[in-house]
Amino acid sequence: MKLSPFVLSSALFSALQSAHGIVIDERDCDEGGTNTSTIQWGPCDPSVVTDSSDFSCGFLEIPIDYHNSSMGKGRIAVIKANATNERRGTYFMNPGGPGGSGLEALSSSPTASYLLNVTGGFYDIVSWDPRGIGSLSIPGDVFCFDSVDEYDAFFNGTIEFSGIEMTGNFTDQSDIDALLAQAGTMQQKYVELGKRCQQHSDGKYLKYIGTSATVRDLLALADALDGPGAPVNYFGYSYGTILGSWLVNMFPNRVGRIILDGVIDPQLFGSVELSLGWQHQLHNADDVYAGLVTGCALAGPAGCAIASEGQSPADVNNDIQTVLGLAHDAARKNSSAPLTSGQLRTALYPYMYQPAQWANLTNSVFPEVFQIVEGESQGTSNVTKRAQLFDRSVVRRAENDTKVYTTSAILCGDSKDRSGNVTMTDIFDEIISASRNISHMFASQWPSPVYICSLWPERAVERYEGPFNKTLANPILVIGNTYDPVTPFSGAQALADELGNSAKLVRMNGFGHTSTAAVGASTCINSVLLAYTVNGTLPEDNNTVCEVDDSFEIWPGVSTNMILGNMTSSGLL
Ligand SMILES: *[C@@H]1O[C@H](CO)[C@@H](O)[C@H](O)[C@H]1NC(C)=O
Ligand SMILES: *[C@@H]1O[C@H](CO)[C@@H](O)[C@H](O)[C@H]1NC(C)=O
Ligand SMILES: *[C@@H]1O[C@H](CO)[C@@H](O)[C@H](O)[C@H]1NC(C)=O
Ligand SMILES: *[C@@H]1O[C@H](CO)[C@@H](O)[C@H](O)[C@H]1NC(C)=O
Ligand SMILES: *[C@@H]1O[C@H](CO)[C@@H](O)[C@H](O)[C@H]1NC(C)=O
Ligand SMILES: *[C@@H]1O[C@H](CO)[C@@H](O)[C@H](O)[C@H]1NC(C)=O
Ligand SMILES: *[C@@H]1O[C@H](CO)[C@@H](O)[C@H](O)[C@H]1NC(C)=O
Ligand SMILES: *[C@@H]1O[C@H](CO)[C@@H](O)[C@H](O)[C@H]1NC(C)=O
Ligand SMILES: *[C@@H]1O[C@H](CO)[C@@H](O)[C@H](O)[C@H]1NC(C)=O
Ligand SMILES: *[C@@H]1O[C@H](CO)[C@@H](O)[C@H](O)[C@H]1NC(C)=O
Ligand SMILES: *[C@@H]1O[C@H](CO)[C@@H](O)[C@H](O)[C@H]1NC(C)=O
Ligand SMILES: *[C@@H]1O[C@H](CO)[C@@H](O)[C@H](O)[C@H]1NC(C)=O
Repeated sequence: MKLSPFVLSSALFSALQSAHGIVIDERDCDEGGTNTSTIQWGPCDPSVVTDSSDFSCGFLEIPIDYHNSSMGKGRIAVIKANATNERRGTYFMNPGGPGGSGLEALSSSPTASYLLNVTGGFYDIVSWDPRGIGSLSIPGDVFCFDSVDEYDAFFNGTIEFSGIEMTGNFTDQSDIDALLAQAGTMQQKYVELGKRCQQHSDGKYLKYIGTSATVRDLLALADALDGPGAPVNYFGYSYGTILGSWLVNMFPNRVGRIILDGVIDPQLFGSVELSLGWQHQLHNADDVYAGLVTGCALAGPAGCAIASEGQSPADVNNDIQTVLGLAHDAARKNSSAPLTSGQLRTALYPYMYQPAQWANLTNSVFPEVFQIVEGESQGTSNVTKRAQLFDRSVVRRAENDTKVYTTSAILCGDSKDRSGNVTMTDIFDEIISASRNISHMFASQWPSPVYICSLWPERAVERYEGPFNKTLANPILVIGNTYDPVTPFSGAQALADELGNSAKLVRMNGFGHTSTAAVGASTCINSVLLAYTVNGTLPEDNNTVCEVDDSFEIWPGVSTNMILGNMTSSGLL
């Protein structure tokens, strides 16, 4: 699992400075420069697509800068699953991140099969590694260090590794003092980091990997595959909804049938300094956690290993808080404690994206964590174990194990101009405040790619800054979950409100990040998708609520509806 802010973990399913950008005007957009490049399809690169038999791959040539041809050419790597029915065109998909590889996401089972199913098999399903992502596209992944050792040495002894220590609602003065004492160091590190990224071999590309350029690449793909000027059909998940919102407003006449799922309000995204505004994304994160402990209590010890017989959700929560407290106290006493409460919260958070992994968390990961933390208090903990635990959850690493900065490069490059007055202390204050008021469990996570943004040296040469209320050639479908840890339902609501008659809103009444968190097990969502993708039919009103099927069991015998029914009375958190 990755910690990128808006990425769908691993795949769709788990088992998935330039100070001023060009503010584009509408005429520029709607001409939508048609592209004559073609894609030569062939086998996929086995280093990226492990099971290649169901897919074809190729490259599309792209200009590095759509507004300055002297910058030369790049390319994007593209993957396709053929239509299984009579082909009508193409459905494009972006898995989020930003930084998620479309090649990896589409080729991870069962993504392609699911998308073919909910489009009636009538479309080729196509994804791609957007500029700035992966090893095949040019520009590819963003690096700022040559090796993991260099990275480790750079951040050695900082909260980049230890995380932030806090208990309860971050009211303990010694925790507050300890964090604020790090502000100077972290500010200096992030300024220096930005310089390293600029000076690294591909640093010259940083201003060309933003979302507007990716919108233009997507149009070029549609021109190449479905003909010049063809309507664009698209599934955008998570960050892919920002790509989608920019697409439909930059090129409203190119809108085909578009689904935006797990929505970030594009208006909010563009109007706040991301290192301060990010916390708004966490409004439902503690609700998801409450769902987890409620479900665990309902499952009981037979299904959920960390529950004891007769425990209430509050009891299960207390046990987890106790472990976090022990880890916190151990880290306060010994700065080299193998597992800090900050690391634990940061590792726990990605699980909130995926209810399908909750049983795994409570039955195999938590027991190990409990053991390590108990060992810590007795001074006997096993550092090897900790390393194993974290290797599977912490930040994405490239093949050669050097940390990738693509997510920061895109999010920061797209974000509003630096006001120049946001300091690390402001960011820390925001974290403390959000830990009290937004998410007690997850607001103190560190690191996060977004916290670099106010100090990031580059902005994309082109950014779309609105309006976000254009009238679209075709109405689009907007989906949000009741309890999503990173794209709260309010985002989907806001986007639908902005688009008015050009959108319809559907809520999936469940937990996790995007409707795919139910692993396709909402018959209702599946049929809403099918009716729209195949016939262009949308629900009549804005108030459609889709339940998750009871066949989707999070623990044996424990469905989403059962958790929702019991959560309301738990009074948790
Ligand atoms: C997809 O269809 C094309 C022809 O339309 C064919 O050449 C190619 O082999 C197919 N790809 C796969 C993976 O089946
Ligand atoms: C797609 O539909 C087929 C046939 O109904 C079914 O067997 C398969 O499980 C579905 N795949 C997914 C991922 O939903
Ligand atoms: C890791 O890969 C990146 C990109 O290919 C390259 O710039 C860097 O030099 C590589 N580092 C090592 C240690 O091989
Ligand atoms: C981090 O610093 C400690 C002492 O300050 C040193 O022992 C250790 O080797 C350093 N680790 C790295 C990876 O540089
Ligand atoms: C945190 O704040 C909430 C109210 O916002 C309160 O219910 C809860 O008891 C507090 N938790 C702790 C540990 O202080
Ligand atoms: C549980 O996690 C382990 C380790 O990450 C993984 O190998 C296994 O497939 C997971 N089990 C399920 C049921 O997802
Ligand atoms: C530490 O954990 C690793 C992996 O689980 C195990 O192989 C090793 O024996 C453990 N060491 C001790 C001292 O328990
Ligand atoms: C930074 O400046 C902007 C306007 O220039 C102002 O709105 C904002 O409050 C300032 N932020 C801080 C943290 O001082
Ligand atoms: C669209 O949004 C802009 C602000 O971005 C606003 O000025 C304008 O009135 C809105 N138009 C409609 C039709 O709501
Ligand atoms: C859906 O909601 C939007 C914004 O709230 C509104 O403009 C539109 O009229 C609504 N459509 C229907 C059919 O209720
Ligand atoms: C699409 O419309 C046709 C004709 O009305 C109907 O037969 C078919 O069932 C519809 N398909 C879906 C998936 O709604
Ligand atoms: C609460 O959980 C129990 C199972 O322990 C279940 O029987 C009951 O239906 C649930 N309540 C609601 C309102 O769903």
